[in-house]
This record gives sequence, structure tokens and C-alpha cells, in this order.
Amino acid sequence: MNTIGVLTSGGDAPGMNAAIRSVVRSAKFYNLRALGIRRGFSGLLHGDFFEFNARDVSDILQRGGTVLQTARSTEFATPEGVKKAVEQAKYFHLDGLVVIGGDGSFRGVRDLAASGLPTIGIPGTIDNDISCTEYTIGFDTAINTAKDAVDKIRDTASSHQRCNIIEVMGRNSGKIAIHVAIATGAEAVYVPEMKPENTPDIVSVINDGIRRNKKHFIIVLAEGVGGADELKRRIEQETKIETKINTLGYMQRGGSPTAMDRCLASQMGARAVDLLRNGIGNRIVGMKDNKIYDIDVNEGLSVAPDDSEELIKLALQLSI
Ligand code: F6P
Repeated sequence: MNTIGVLTSGGDAPGMNAAIRSVVRSAKFYNLRALGIRRGFSGLLHGDFFEFNARDVSDILQRGGTVLQTARSTEFATPEGVKKAVEQAKYFHLDGLVVIGGDGSFRGVRDLAASGLPTIGIPGTIDNDISCTEYTIGFDTAINTAKDAVDKIRDTASSHQRCNIIEVMGRNSGKIAIHVAIATGAEAVYVPEMKPENTPDIVSVINDGIRRNKKHFIIVLAEGVGGADELKRRIEQETKIETKINTLGYMQRGGSPTAMDRCLASQMGARAVDLLRNGIGNRIVGMKDNKIYDIDVNEGLSVAPDDSEELIKLALQLSI
């Protein structure tokens, strides 16, 4: 193993830069060549490579986004695309690759490794929706950003005795929503993982709250559930409480990563380089029982998603 490449793919996440820095510096520590690949798999396909030296990753640890830029490549999702990517890797004398991204990117890791390029996946997504790892890079920063926003919204909701529905990101996962709801003491949370029989009726939640002397309400809604307008309409019609909708959107993807995301990314980047320099590819680095570990890509991709039942129960229990 002489040359290791690194790319970021899918939605950007705070801490991706810390992971890039860790891959580059770890490679340099072991006297390996490091190449950066711009714009994810798209850059890999089109040969957008450049030489990375240790100083090139100075001052990026604390920055959100990804200095490598990112993309969602449809061309790479085809067998011809993968073939083209492997040819480019050969042309640039790449012996191993680190892909920082979400589960869509890990299917790319599997395909590249199966085509003979040792590849390691590092989980980078604010959604924390990769089942084989307890944490993904960016999640901690995103929930802290959303927590700060909800705390501010609660101040004004309280002053005006209003209800605020706050929609958070997460694609089909409710991980961000549940953690934000618990961290901000939301009166209700709606996530895709909720079974219909355990989904509280919003009008009953608010009427019960009014009986318990609550004057304002924070409802956290996962984007994967949607329906904020309909929720607002029902609340206003049936409880007469004025209701506002706040979609937090892309602010959740930006900003300086928390210490936790920086440390996690640094550890994962170093593990990825350790695997490659020992001739091991086709693995995903993750966190299990609070420790960094790695797992075969196919095994990792087939881990069943957890239904967050305990946390959903806790959020409901504490919202009375
Ligand atoms: O996967 C991260 C994420 O921010 C999701 O929470 C969201 O659904 C999606 O990406 C938005 O994707 P895009 O950047 O393509 O709009």
C-alpha cells in the first residue's frame, strides 16, 4: 500500500473535514502518499484527483462542510460507472480508498471493493441512520444546532402562549427528532419509527397539556413524517391555540463541529488508514459499545435498523 485516496460523498456533515484531516495526517505519519478526490464518486469517475500533504489539511478541523466538496452521483450507481471509477483509480496508482458518507455511499464502497479496489467507509451524515454504528459524524453537531434553535423558539412560544411545530431533518430516520425532543423537553415528537397505535393524537396531547396548566407547546416533527400544515390546521381548529411552523432545514448541516464529532472523525479516519495499510478493504468503520470498531461492508449494510423504541417512550414519558 503506497497511495491512499479520500473522498466525501452524499450530504455534507460537520466533522467531515476532521475525518479528511485524520486520513491525510495518518497516511503521512506512515509515509504513505495521500490523494484528495473532489466531488465524491463523480470526481473519482472523472479523475478529479490532487496530491494532499500534511499542511494542506491545516485549519480545517474546526470548519463545517467538506473541503473536498461532495455530490450524489447517479453515473457511479451503474456497473459502467464503477468500472470507470476503478480504471481512474488504477491510472492514478491508487492502492486504497476511504469514502466518508452515508449508507448510499457504502454501496459504492462495496462495489469498488468487489471490483478490486480496497475501500473503507466512514459514516458521515447528520441523520445517524446507519444501523451498524451508534454514531455518525455530524449527528452530534446537528442535534446541538437544532437544540439551540428550539430553545430560542421556546422563548417566544412561551411569551406568546403559542404552539410551535419544528420540522427537523433526518430523511427516513427519526434519530435527530427524538434526540432534539428529549434535549429540549418537547411536548410531542413525531418520527417515522412510531407505530400507528403508539402515535399520540396531537389534539389530545395539547388538551391534556392545557389541563395540566401548560401554556405553550413545542412539537418536534421529523421530515420523514411530514404533514406540518395538517398538524397546524388541526391544532388551531380543535384547540384554538395559535400555531407556527419552523422548518430548520440546512442550518442543521452547517457550522463548526462539536468536540465529540471532531474526536469521532479523528478516530475513524485513523482506523480507516490502519485497515488499508494492513491490506484490509471492504469494511465500514463505526462505533459499537462506545468504542471504534470495523465491520465487513455487506454485514454492516444488512444490520437491521433499531426502532428507537426506548427513546420514543422516554420522550413521551417526560413530556407530561
Ligand atoms: O442525509 C442528510 C440530509 O440532510 C437529510 O437529513 C435530508 O433529507 C437530505 O440530506 C437532504 O438532501 P439534499 O442535500 O440532497 O437536499
